[in-house]
Amino acid sequence: MTLGLADQRFHKAQLRPYLTKSRFKHCEAVAELSFQMAQHWNHPSPDNAWLAGLYHDIAKDLDESALLVRASQLGMAITDCEKRSVSTLHAPVGALMVRHECGITDRQILGAIRWHTTGRAKMTLIEKIVYLADIVEAGKKVEHGLLIKKLAHHDLNAAIRLTAKETLKHLLERDKWICPRSLECYNAYS
Ligand SMILES: [Fe+2]
Ligand SMILES: [Fe+2]
Repeated sequence: MTLGLADQRFHKAQLRPYLTKSRFKHCEAVAELSFQMAQHWNHPSPDNAWLAGLYHDIAKDLDESALLVRASQLGMAITDCEKRSVSTLHAPVGALMVRHECGITDRQILGAIRWHTTGRAKMTLIEKIVYLADIVEAGKKVEHGLLIKKLAHHDLNAAIRLTAKETLKHLLERDKWICPRSLECYNAYS
């Protein structure tokens, strides 16, 4: 698949109504970074990485009750962890919204959206790329953001390890619930 400018415009127009202006800009930037990283790491479809990056936060501007409503409308079983940390729901709900409302059926793209927040053990290349592009785009807001950016270009697994570690630290410092997938991700890349 090759995405021309018209296709890119189509997907951006399709995404725009779901998001605030600043979130939309974040998604555009994550799409570009994901595309570049996919080229850098010889992913067979940088266009798929672009699409996953673009749509990754489609559900991020829904509030907690809207996320729960969407999850049940889409027939999603909510895990105990997701009940305790509703914000993590924007990733799986987002993947289902992209599939059912935006006509994206590619499993690799949907997986990258599904796992962009918690990560998981045995991530695919496109999942790693979008997980890291999201953090790299957040840049200065993340501790060790510069180091993660450097690592994302020469050691993907080390970049994931550091990102997962920082995520766990962030959650622990705030007495937040830790999703088992986040722990699994950290353990798998340590
Ligand atoms: Fe997100
Ligand atoms: Fe994001």
